[in-house]
Amino acid sequence: MTTSAKEPYATFSPDELASLPTVFREGLFLDRVIVVTGGAGVIGTALCVLFGRLGATVVACGRSRDRLDELSRHLTRLAIRHSTHALTVRDPEQVSAFVDEVWERHGRLDVLINNAGGQFAVPATEITPKGWSAVVETILYGTWYASQAAARRWIGKNAPGSIVNVTTAPGLVAAGIPHTVAARAGQVQLTRALALEWAPHSIRVNGVAVGVVSGPSLHHYPPNAKPFFEANPMRRVGDVVDVAEACAYLAAPSGKFLTGVVLPVDGGGSVWGEFWPLGKPDYFRVED
Ligand SMILES: NC(=O)c1ccc[n+]([C@@H]2O[C@H](COP(=O)([O-])OP(=O)(O)OC[C@H]3O[C@@H](n4cnc5c(N)ncnc54)[C@H](OP(=O)(O)O)[C@@H]3O)[C@@H](O)[C@H]2O)c1
Repeated sequence: MTTSAKEPYATFSPDELASLPTVFREGLFLDRVIVVTGGAGVIGTALCVLFGRLGATVVACGRSRDRLDELSRHLTRLAIRHSTHALTVRDPEQVSAFVDEVWERHGRLDVLINNAGGQFAVPATEITPKGWSAVVETILYGTWYASQAAARRWIGKNAPGSIVNVTTAPGLVAAGIPHTVAARAGQVQLTRALALEWAPHSIRVNGVAVGVVSGPSLHHYPPNAKPFFEANPMRRVGDVVDVAEACAYLAAPSGKFLTGVVLPVDGGGSVWGEFWPLGKPDYFRVED
């Protein structure tokens, strides 16, 4: 098991995730059905294992059937009830059909975690229309499509619901990822707007603003970005369990009086810190 600052590119294996201590009680999500978009990713796997350990039936989606099959093998071995569904969150029709399938197959839906996402660091002038759309549509439109599809069923069935959006710190701007920064700003305001509009239907909408979390997805950044992974007051990277437990806190009864909240899980990065996904240009250096 390695999530130390020395090795920010490593994460926990599914078996390690299943045996780490957790503050949450056994059976907390018993008989609950939790959808995790991007469920086979690094953070997604931690979400699936944690909610599964706590008794939930886990429903994971993503584009790659192979990655979902691998996740399914792990969840089966860990005796976690689950199903996996290959689709893109960028397509509203696929998302709507997916949510119908969840209700048909599992009979309910309690929590939606919008976790699917991805980004690549590149100077703003080099971003193509296709690259821009891929990031903005996955993060912002994907969150919207899944949230609307879930809420329509919850409202239609007069059932309560909870949405947790995995996002990044509001207000934290980084050069080299303008598509992500723009999409995350929209995602955070969407979280707040939907929390307000759907409160009368007992639907809570919250977010977890992730700082830098160890795992292989950090390989997407060039080596000169590495020193900035620890640019927060705690001077270390977080791990996937930090994110999963924050999502559980918001989704569980512990969050029953919380809506419209975006909880930073970033080692304090939102109050201090700087992140340069392409490394820090000389122009911005102020050190002696
Ligand atoms: N790791 C960090 O430090 C960090 C920091 C801040 C925010 N985040 C955010 O946290 C979330 C999870 O990140 P991660 O580190 O776990 O990344 P990851 O391992 O790359 O996981 C991303 C997941 O999203 C899925 N996905 C991507 N595009 C999709 C689409 N169009 N439709 C459906 N699924 C899609 C991917 O599966 P397929 O490729 O198979 O579709 C994958 O399972 C992302 O939103 C990420 O931006 C991460």
